[in-house]
Amino acid sequence: MIEIHQHKIILQLFKKAKKISPEFLISWSEKLVSELLVEKSSYAFTVKSASGQYISALLFTGHPHKKESFSLSEIQLIFTDPDFSAKGHASELLNKLKTCSQEVWLDVHPKNKKAISLYLSMGFKEVGRRKNYYFDGSEAILMSYQK
Ligand SMILES: CC(C)(COP(=O)(O)OP(=O)(O)OC[C@H]1O[C@@H](n2cnc3c(N)ncnc32)[C@H](O)[C@@H]1OP(=O)(O)O)[C@@H](O)C(=O)NCCC(=O)NCCS
Repeated sequence: MIEIHQHKIILQLFKKAKKISPEFLISWSEKLVSELLVEKSSYAFTVKSASGQYISALLFTGHPHKKESFSLSEIQLIFTDPDFSAKGHASELLNKLKTCSQEVWLDVHPKNKKAISLYLSMGFKEVGRRKNYYFDGSEAILMSYQK
């Protein structure tokens, strides 16, 4: 569950990231993100700046295993405030998810080179493609990380 006090702040961060990279968040509207935030199986990891501002968020669907660990996690969304990009914040969040998950799955737009390179550098491997997956008709690259 994602704590209610985090919803507004995560949505604001999402809106800022979408303004800068609309093509890579094409399947996500504010309404869809709001619906994801209230799902029981949704979880969020976040990074805050020294001043307490939220600067990066990872939203995922988790299948709980033991206390605070997951047998399977599916990344739904990851975004960093563009003013704080390339400082390792998304990597930090992915590492945290890898630590508490046996297996992690995600899909990514083939044109999202920055995200693909980040996932590859974090040990994710391409395992397949999903045809006609995004709103622009593009296929999705399916990637997974196994412990
Ligand atoms: C993709 C995205 C989440 C990456 O966030 P980020 O916080 O900038 O990611 P990181 O800083 O951890 O890593 C990005 C790059 O910076 C590099 N980097 C990490 N720490 C660094 C540092 N201290 N100094 C310089 N570069 C650094 C990383 O090696 C990585 O390079 P790579 O692409 O060659 O692997 C961000 O660009 C974003 O929000 N994009 C729009 C939304 C999106 O596309 N999300 C993915 C689909 S849901």
